Amino acid sequence: MDLPPQISVLQTAWQWWRYAARYEGTLAATRRLVSVLWEFARDSTPDRLRARFGDAEYDWDYRVNTTSGAVGWRDRLLGMFHSAYQPTEPVAFHEMIEGLQQSLHQTRGPDHTTLALRDFTFIDLGSGKGRTLLMASEYPFRRILGVELLPSLHQIAQENLHQYKSESQKCFVLESICADATAFPLPADPLVIFLFNPFPESGMRQVVAKLDQSLREHPRPVYMLYHNPLLEHTLSESKKLRKIAGEQQYSLFTNH
Ligand SMILES: C[S@@+](CC[C@H](N)C(=O)[O-])C[C@H]1O[C@@H](n2cnc3c(N)ncnc32)[C@H](O)[C@@H]1O
Repeated sequence: MDLPPQISVLQTAWQWWRYAARYEGTLAATRRLVSVLWEFARDSTPDRLRARFGDAEYDWDYRVNTTSGAVGWRDRLLGMFHSAYQPTEPVAFHEMIEGLQQSLHQTRGPDHTTLALRDFTFIDLGSGKGRTLLMASEYPFRRILGVELLPSLHQIAQENLHQYKSESQKCFVLESICADATAFPLPADPLVIFLFNPFPESGMRQVVAKLDQSLREHPRPVYMLYHNPLLEHTLSESKKLRKIAGEQQYSLFTNH
């Protein structure tokens, strides 16, 4: 299997610093870089490393590797500059899909029939080791796609997709793609887009602009499930999306 080349830590840190320096000045950017490295060092103590295995119960149940505990130092450091890998908790995920299904039941499609999950492609932008892809496969989506920046996380996701076994699995068309999700061309299908804070504000704006453009070119129903919506205001800037539901832990947007 051909793997995409590893991403350089030094180059990533340099690009991160240059971007920060452009907006905040060199001194503030350097201070922030030092605090990122300090946070990384604090996050590498044995106690913190052990605590990250707290999310591993899912892996025991399904014999996969989606825990943030088993992420190497390189990917953890890269995560400090992009977004740290953290898998979505199963209870939260199923609640979000439940909320989505309730909204779909209240909506008519273009042919006036009720929309259902089988009409949609599920896509996780920033899919990490692919836990959401596995959890989404318990629902009858048309197909399931994950886009992950870091090659080693993407490789583990591929292994997980291969290894996953569940008697209640309903979707078997699953794929993990290694790419920058902010530049990824969105499929022209009806979409459920899942986001768990994969990007900084600039990345979120890029994705929103690309989605608006894609909806102009290919009008279709799109739902966006935003888990832990820290940058929700960036979605509110969309010309096409509006918020239709939300709890403390997620927001649901649609153009439909
Ligand atoms: C908080 S984790 C969420 C993982 C997964 N979506 C889940 O909910 O279980 C965010 C992920 O986004 C990835 N990421 C960060 N920037 C990215 C980009 N530009 N393109 C694709 N993935 C990115 C990180 O490597 C990380 O795996």
